[in-house]
Amino acid sequence: MRVHITEGSIVEAQVEALVLGIFEGITEPGGAAGAVDQAIGGLIKNVLGSKEFKGELNETITLHLGGGRPYRKVVLVGLGKKEELSAERVRQASASGVRAAAKGGVRRIGCPLHGAGAGGLDVGEAAQALTEGAILGLYKFETYKTKDDNGHKDELVEVVVYEQDGDKVQAAGPAIERGTILAEATNWARDLVNTPSNDLTPTVLAAKAKQMAAEVGLECEILERRDMERLGMGALLGVAKGSAEEPKMIVLRYRGSDDEQPFALVGKGVCFDSGGISLKPAEGMGAMKGDMAGAAAVLGAMRAIALLKPKQHVIAVAPCVENLPSGTALKPGDVLKAMTGKTIEVDNTDAEGRLILADAVAYAESLGAHSVVDVATLTGACVIALGSLYTGLISTDDELAEAIVEAGKKAGERYCRLPADPEYKEQYKSDVADIKNTGGREAGVITGALIISEFVKDARWAHLDIAGTSTSSKDKHYLTKGATGVAVRTLAELVCSD
Ligand code: BES
Ligand code: ZN
Ligand code: MN
Repeated sequence: MRVHITEGSIVEAQVEALVLGIFEGITEPGGAAGAVDQAIGGLIKNVLGSKEFKGELNETITLHLGGGRPYRKVVLVGLGKKEELSAERVRQASASGVRAAAKGGVRRIGCPLHGAGAGGLDVGEAAQALTEGAILGLYKFETYKTKDDNGHKDELVEVVVYEQDGDKVQAAGPAIERGTILAEATNWARDLVNTPSNDLTPTVLAAKAKQMAAEVGLECEILERRDMERLGMGALLGVAKGSAEEPKMIVLRYRGSDDEQPFALVGKGVCFDSGGISLKPAEGMGAMKGDMAGAAAVLGAMRAIALLKPKQHVIAVAPCVENLPSGTALKPGDVLKAMTGKTIEVDNTDAEGRLILADAVAYAESLGAHSVVDVATLTGACVIALGSLYTGLISTDDELAEAIVEAGKKAGERYCRLPADPEYKEQYKSDVADIKNTGGREAGVITGALIISEFVKDARWAHLDIAGTSTSSKDKHYLTKGATGVAVRTLAELVCSD
């Protein structure tokens, strides 16, 4: 899958299908759509007058043409109201358009720079959004399909953007490259989350991180069980006890050009979460193969960061384990000692994310991080509170929290900040240890986050609960059913704009 731009008229495009953006309520096609309409005998104008297509955001209609043109179909995609156009709407419409166009084995798709003409968006912004939408929207996870629905595999789709203004072509080039880096990193993370746990153990995940690091020029270190023992990571090791698979702590380093301390991205890497001895119900348990989406997000972000080359130093830390019940498993009532020396009473072995993150955030701070952002599929409570639209954001630092919300806006990802008042800490007091690993049903998203914050001393800290946003239950614009790769682009934007 590749997006590139060429100087020329879309009417003459040497492609199999065109995608044209249409504003809501338009009856007279203008710009690229107007030029194509003239060339194909007014078919577009006919449709716009027929009320069969209103131009609402992400609405599509496909016009099949007779012979005589290289393109055999034209897809119209709604951009919504002209005055409401945004980069995010271009990202969505681009995905909806190319997805309709790619049906039936189409491999080469042409389109104009949606939004950069009458829409009035900045050319770079529009080009980046178009590129991201196309690459994200055409994502497929077919590793385990011996045949796809059409009986073939691995179609390579190419999207060619046609623009007649040479200056706009120049300006769009680097933006397409940036969009490609961000979207491919997101898809890379999606692959990890979609891969079942029998093929993505902590050992495999660590090997994939190492391979990726070598490809893009990051330093990679894998901490083994003996390293964790030496460092006193009793919380992480406690969770790992139930599984026959070795725990791994992935550490990636990106060296920017400034000489400041690093920014740390920490991701929960539970390759499978059965709940442990506090076993989860059978129904839907398979979805817990995706309980390493936080790790995938920080690794994917590092892949993008390595290619975008910001000034900021960045490290990523991903503690990877399986949470399983067995004769050697962690038990409710057990007490663990984390790397910082703080003790934790295990009230529920299913609250394992905060245990492994306790040692991971402490380790990140011990490497000198000035800011620690952890990303985790942490709580079912977050899914209940925010659904799949917003990621939960909890932070004790206003500036960092606002920077995350802003980076999210650029990336097309929504974050809802929840309070973090210290009074909530009362809920996880323990009778026998310093704290316990649960805070009861009330405000479960917040107490879960605050338990992690107990292991950060001086660094700025923020927590992203992606339990509801890391997977999508259906294909929806640039999101495809299954893993979303959420937070990859936000984290890359955050570090690159800092
Ligand atoms: N991985 C789960 C959270 C989760 C739930 C992610 C649904 C995605 C979808 C986490 O480890 C967990 O089990 N959390 C418990 C915490 C509780 C025991 C305090 C939960 O939310 O029930
Ligand atoms: Zn979990
Ligand atoms: Mn759990």
